[in-house]
Amino acid sequence: MAEKKNGYLQEDWQRHYDEGDLGWDLGQVAPPFIKLFESKIILPGKTLIPGCGRGHEVIYLAENGFEVTAVDYSPGAVNHLKSTVQERNLKCEVLNMDFFGIDSAHNGVYDLLIEQTFFCAISPEQRSSYVSTVARALKKGGMLAGLFYHTGEEEGGPPFNTTREDIKKYFSDSFEIRQLSKAEDSAEQRKNKEWLAILIKK
Ligand SMILES: C[S@@+](CC[C@H](N)C(=O)[O-])C[C@H]1O[C@@H](n2cnc3c(N)ncnc32)[C@H](O)[C@@H]1O
Repeated sequence: MAEKKNGYLQEDWQRHYDEGDLGWDLGQVAPPFIKLFESKIILPGKTLIPGCGRGHEVIYLAENGFEVTAVDYSPGAVNHLKSTVQERNLKCEVLNMDFFGIDSAHNGVYDLLIEQTFFCAISPEQRSSYVSTVARALKKGGMLAGLFYHTGEEEGGPPFNTTREDIKKYFSDSFEIRQLSKAEDSAEQRKNKEWLAILIKK
């Protein structure tokens, strides 16, 4: 991802899809989410996945009984995901829109929100809006299960670095931090670079 001071615009993301330059795409479900599912830490329910990209997590969870709503504002992402959903005959909602613009019909609806390489993709100036949007979408007691990208780079992005302190600073008011540790089973290219956070909406 080329560096831009205040982050990317929609057309910058779309260009990556047009050019097939998807350096962030693991090509598989991030392994920590498989472990969370297999150990029953995340349970089937109404699930929101913002900035879903090509949607490996969307497909995996939909195939395992989660009722998923996926959101991405790049047509290149949602068109790919919609055709996979159709091919596999899955039931899941794929919205082509700005996540920050989800309307009040989404308020207090979700049991679970999956964060995967979206918080690091937005401008740091949008982090407070991210927290208020995910907090209004989740039910009280709902869970945000997230992998937050600790790039270790001090400046620039996307991806913008996320520290443990960033997570505490932004989420503590609206969420109980149940777990915040380095993920143990990250994909090779993310080893030691992901915070696994389990956050419960207050
Ligand atoms: C780094 S990619 C991550 C995609 C996916 N989560 C993954 O890990 O493969 C970031 C995604 O967020 C989307 N995105 C960025 N800002 C957005 C916004 N405000 N609303 C919806 N989607 C957004 C981009 O189009 C892109 O698909």
